[in-house]
Amino acid sequence: MDLKIAVLPGDGIGPEISAVGVEVLKAIAEKFNHKFEFDYAPVGAAAIDATGDPFPEATFQLCKSSDAVFFSAIGHPKYDNNPDSKVRPEQGLLAMRKKLGLFANIRPIEIFPSLVDKSPIKEDIVKGSDFICIRELTGGMYFGEKYQDDDRAYDTNAYTRPEIERIVRLAMDYARRRRKHLTVVDKANVLASSRLWRKVAKELEAEYPDVAVDYMFVDNASMKIITEPRFFDVIVTENTFGDILTDEASVISGSMGLLPSASTGELTPVFEPIHGSWPQAAGLNIANPMAQVLSGAMLLEHFGLASEAKNVRDAVNAAIENGIVTPELAAPGAVTYGTKEIGEWLVDYIRE
Ligand code: IPM
Ligand code: MN
Repeated sequence: MDLKIAVLPGDGIGPEISAVGVEVLKAIAEKFNHKFEFDYAPVGAAAIDATGDPFPEATFQLCKSSDAVFFSAIGHPKYDNNPDSKVRPEQGLLAMRKKLGLFANIRPIEIFPSLVDKSPIKEDIVKGSDFICIRELTGGMYFGEKYQDDDRAYDTNAYTRPEIERIVRLAMDYARRRRKHLTVVDKANVLASSRLWRKVAKELEAEYPDVAVDYMFVDNASMKIITEPRFFDVIVTENTFGDILTDEASVISGSMGLLPSASTGELTPVFEPIHGSWPQAAGLNIANPMAQVLSGAMLLEHFGLASEAKNVRDAVNAAIENGIVTPELAAPGAVTYGTKEIGEWLVDYIRE
């Protein structure tokens, strides 16, 4: 298969983990006789420095004309504590999502058996957890009408029926291919937007009689993710709730550095780790590249390359089982590995 992949390394640890992800995809292409072309473009703080725009037009054009985007991370501390800065790296990510119409963000939460002791949650609660959080990505407060002056500010949590319908349908389809259990997370006891979500989802239930649907308030869901994570199969929720719940859900796996995501919708799909740019670690060769590498596996799966994706997942599992991990996942006193060295180990494994 020929694939044209736009690589957007971004900021902080982005370039280091991106390099590992690309090496792994190159090894797969070679082994399975595919032709992957990689074209690079700036995004986030790196793009602001280069062009003044966190998602420059040239980057958009490259994304649009590619089959997939392989994104890493954005964000820089020089913007975080300055509420008055007019341009922010995060706007690059939001612009990318909006312009590519990426309304569905798929975040699988999975526990690696050999890392179960790294979870902050007790083993008997967390082991065997396996769910997918589907986060609506181009609506809600992130994109609704905003206002800010020195005394008053608001963000509008607006959703339309078609926006809700398409994401709930997608979640129903995911549930169908899994354990057929969908949890719609909202705050329908307080928010009008949530009441519309619930109404639309309930109407769709009739079309998916094989899927068991339940409805849960977001505060309750955030508790249940910690106390009974095995309850969940597929969660669908709006943009802001999904942002918060997926950070929470990611740590039950033991490290945020393990979880990949895929964003799909109207134009080119994007594959990216769910973690941020960890600027303090930039250049130190200590960032865990696994989430990026697993995002590569999701990319391969998206194009139907199941054996290739399995090879990547096997490599990651083998590395973890063999203790080829960054410091946050290492056993006490064990040798730890750098970002680059983990990449080399994965590539060797794939070549063998
Ligand atoms: C994420 C991130 C982004 C978001 C930020 C960087 C804008 O936290 O992908 O979850 O809030 O969507
Ligand atoms: Mn987030």
